[in-house]
Amino acid sequence: MKVFITRTIPEAGVKLLKEAGYIITMNTEKRNLSNEELISISRQNDVVLNGGFDKMREDYFAACSHIKLLSLMTVGYDNIDIAAATKYKIPVSNTPDVLSNATADTSFLLMLATSRKAFYKYKTILDGEWGFYNPTANLGIEIQNKTLGILGLGKIGFVMAQKSKAAFGMNIIYHNRSRNEEAEKELGAKYVSFDDLLQQSDVLSVHANLSEQTKDMFNKDAFSKMKPTSIFINTARGGLHNETDLLHALQNNIIWGAGLDVTNPEPMAKDNPLLFMPNVCVLPHIGSAVEETRDAMATMAVQNIIAGIRGERLPNIVNPEVYNS
Ligand code: DGY
Repeated sequence: MKVFITRTIPEAGVKLLKEAGYIITMNTEKRNLSNEELISISRQNDVVLNGGFDKMREDYFAACSHIKLLSLMTVGYDNIDIAAATKYKIPVSNTPDVLSNATADTSFLLMLATSRKAFYKYKTILDGEWGFYNPTANLGIEIQNKTLGILGLGKIGFVMAQKSKAAFGMNIIYHNRSRNEEAEKELGAKYVSFDDLLQQSDVLSVHANLSEQTKDMFNKDAFSKMKPTSIFINTARGGLHNETDLLHALQNNIIWGAGLDVTNPEPMAKDNPLLFMPNVCVLPHIGSAVEETRDAMATMAVQNIIAGIRGERLPNIVNPEVYNS
């Protein structure tokens, strides 16, 4: 069995594949492969492990309809045309849960760093500006006992809410497709409408999937309903916010600050004005980037492959409809 891995994954995953006796082709170059390269290498393999964010659309699945399964080493799958994979009867799996803690930590880090203008203050040291002590310049805002609004209270949102409540006694409100009874019971989280979430949150943290319904959800209209003292955090997908509208909201004091682990587009241009604003903290999509988590993601991605090759249902199937016919 021949497995193509689109970028270097942790050794934990490679080892498991080798132990299972598979022949591995792993792209170890530090660049994204082109669509043509992805297609051409996939055509020489039986299984594909997408190590993260490689786009696979209808033309990819049409050209690689022979692959037995596609295993993603991410929880998000907006880079994949799932309907096309299903059309060609290719099961697709992802890596949920194992990255919830690390990703929630990144949201928490951005919330606190933004509230204290931490990235900007660090830059002032590099710029030789740590001189005069000014008791009124560039102050942050307190998080303690404030209201945290969560859009998409699934696993990652739950951990973010849990940590924020435990650390800062934050009051939790949320908006979701469905009610999260566990969060309501354990964290006293209150379900609110999207408009109420915008209007009542001191910190609004985004944890929803990117889809046609959620694309550009945080636009000019949404930001205009938020408090001028509020902080917007996005560790989900950059496509959920309109970056021009976000910049406008920050420049015009419509909201107070923003912490982004995901941008729109990615990568963010190095001269993007957001990078130079005191009240903005940006990270290069590092949500799950800790050793323990990446090992667990690689292991899970390979376990999905092993199950699929054995003819079993993929444990973390994204398109279960594929098994219907
Ligand atoms: C995911 O798995 O979707 C994350 O964005 C990767 O960090």
